[in-house]
Amino acid sequence: MSKNLGPRIIIALDYAEPRLALDMAAKLEPARCRLKVGKELFTRGGPQLVQTLRNKGFEIFLDLKFHDIPNTVAGACSAAADLGVWMVNVHAMGGRCMMVAAREALDKVAQPPLLIAVTILTSMGERDIHEVGLAGMPADNVVRLAALAQESGMDGVVCSPQEVAMLRRQAGESFRLVTPGIRPIWSAKGDQTRITTPADAVRLGSDYLVIGRPITAAEEPMVALEAIERELAE
Ligand code: C5P
Repeated sequence: MSKNLGPRIIIALDYAEPRLALDMAAKLEPARCRLKVGKELFTRGGPQLVQTLRNKGFEIFLDLKFHDIPNTVAGACSAAADLGVWMVNVHAMGGRCMMVAAREALDKVAQPPLLIAVTILTSMGERDIHEVGLAGMPADNVVRLAALAQESGMDGVVCSPQEVAMLRRQAGESFRLVTPGIRPIWSAKGDQTRITTPADAVRLGSDYLVIGRPITAAEEPMVALEAIERELAE
């Protein structure tokens, strides 16, 4: 593949305590993975935690899924860029104007983070999307929102492994597809239901794999990471 993606594995630091996130980071190597900081950890650890992780050499996916009026989301994206994060995300349901405002805000930055959209949360089923006024199946909405995200200047979308192949065909090679729901065959499923192995996700067209517990709950996280890297290399 001609894309220069760097390490494909993004490790989800799903911790309530910054100290636990830093303990995990101390066991990992920045050259081999990126780290995802989500709402709970960021709300507790704040920009300072992101800075500390960056100072250790890690590139950060700030997974705050911004969704607000265009001006507010543009400001939030600029703030994320000031933090020096590598990837940031917004909800495609915020609409074209919101996504374009986010894009324009980041276009003013010298080294902008990748700007990624969330289409339909994978926690939402058919009934949930109908309840909030969306018609059709979740997959139809994913396709429509991914196309809107691309038209609005997003660099890619977060999607489930089940959606990767379809979105890759639709969006072409340069659109980044970021996939959680990854489970190597040797790891526990936990609460994830529709899962894919790392190698299958990449085969289907995924660029970046968001992986939490198979690595963070392993006795030796770097050994687990190495096993996944080996699987990908084969
Ligand atoms: O531990 P695990 O590998 O299941 O962690 C997956 C990470 O990806 C978590 O941070 C979870 O919130 C996130 N995620 C997900 N499914 C989505 C979107 C995000 O599992 N559809």
